[in-house]
Amino acid sequence: MSGPKGARGNRFEGALDPVAAAMNASVGFDHRLLPHDVAGSIAHAEMLASRGLISQEDARAIILGLREVADQLASGALAWDEALEDVHMNVEARLIDEIGDAGRRLHTGRSRNDQVATDLRLYARAAAGRIQHAIDELRRALVVQARAHVDTLMPGYTHLQRAQPVRLAHHLLAYDQMLQRDRGRITDAARRADVSPLGAGALAGTTLAIDRKRVADALGFSAVAANSLDAVGDRDFAIELVSACALAHVHLSRLGEELVLWASSEFGFVRIGEAYCSGSSLMPQKMNPDLAELLRAKVGRVVGAWVTLVTVVKGTPLAYNKDLQETQEPLYDAVETLEASLAVARGMIASLDFDVARMRAAIDAGYLVATELADYLVTKGVPFREAHDHAGKLVRLAVSRNLELAQLPLDDLRAVHPAFDDDVATWLDPVRAVDRRDLPGAPARARVLEELAWVERELGLSD
Ligand code: ARG
Repeated sequence: MSGPKGARGNRFEGALDPVAAAMNASVGFDHRLLPHDVAGSIAHAEMLASRGLISQEDARAIILGLREVADQLASGALAWDEALEDVHMNVEARLIDEIGDAGRRLHTGRSRNDQVATDLRLYARAAAGRIQHAIDELRRALVVQARAHVDTLMPGYTHLQRAQPVRLAHHLLAYDQMLQRDRGRITDAARRADVSPLGAGALAGTTLAIDRKRVADALGFSAVAANSLDAVGDRDFAIELVSACALAHVHLSRLGEELVLWASSEFGFVRIGEAYCSGSSLMPQKMNPDLAELLRAKVGRVVGAWVTLVTVVKGTPLAYNKDLQETQEPLYDAVETLEASLAVARGMIASLDFDVARMRAAIDAGYLVATELADYLVTKGVPFREAHDHAGKLVRLAVSRNLELAQLPLDDLRAVHPAFDDDVATWLDPVRAVDRRDLPGAPARARVLEELAWVERELGLSD
């Protein structure tokens, strides 16, 4: 028989039905595995030669041939062939075309099942590395803005109602905390992916005396998978990575939403750089925060990828099933979406131009220092619950007179509680209010500077 038979071999007389072939083929997406597939095959071929399972000469021909085929496929000089089903068969068939018989020895002691499991783990590990880097780049952009806005005060919110004054740097560094945890989760997922399935064969290992440890070492894996059935049937590592991607994207979505709000005329806290806005085809005045909205929205597909993944794996019997091919696209989509979003978020954060005066003005309206009134009375010995009631009464009074708390005459304060004194005016100054919050994790200037210094050191922005 001539011509490419794909993976079906001589057991079959006829070809797959065309619609079945289209559904069965994965090369349309698993071409992403090319560098990993080739690295795995090179490690495998070297190992086969070291064990005398193929000759050194054949191994050399295989390795050179694999590099050649990889270059040609990557550059487009060779086209991917759907009839060959997947990346693995495309590479192997082309290798055989290129070097002849030696190429037919590459698949010794190996199955596409342990091969794809290996490729996907290598992909997950590489993707995790890129995502960690992209997270740190976004963190750097946030930290640069935070450093510039240590002394910018803004309202902190709960329920999206103005609550208490904080520093803009503190707000931005809250995202750094989320991103630090995201990075940690990506690192954890990469650690779990760091196990070599090669040698598990189709499901039950191989009768040939291969050296699994040597292959694992060559590919930089820390360990050899302990159970062959699990090694070919496991996609936890993909689920875990996508789960970490989804949570990271949830954080980008919160950031996107805040930027949309802050860039609105209603808030007017920030201008997003033109490179991250688009116009309206109808209303000439519009500068729309499209990219911030997309950061908010793209989380949908990453969470969707996670749901797809767990749903595909759920209920599959041991060991390998073709279902597992369906874990690939959601993995790629989640990784690629998050990478793109992190890059956009980084650039957008760097482009932000905060309206410091507008943020500061927002503190002066809305009774943000009401808690300060209560705390003031506490320092004069009034029990907090009672102080809270007095402060509430004063807010009501101020609202009825259309005044802010700082504008209420001292006599009115004293009428509510005699402990109020001249010093209450300075006490209500928002800068002082923020700086009294001088505990670990709080927005006092000294604490924010401490946090900033720690993060800058961690990110290599200072020494
Ligand atoms: N493209 C396949 C996948 O992604 C490779 C493994 C095929 N194995 C098999 N027994 N059909 O799962």
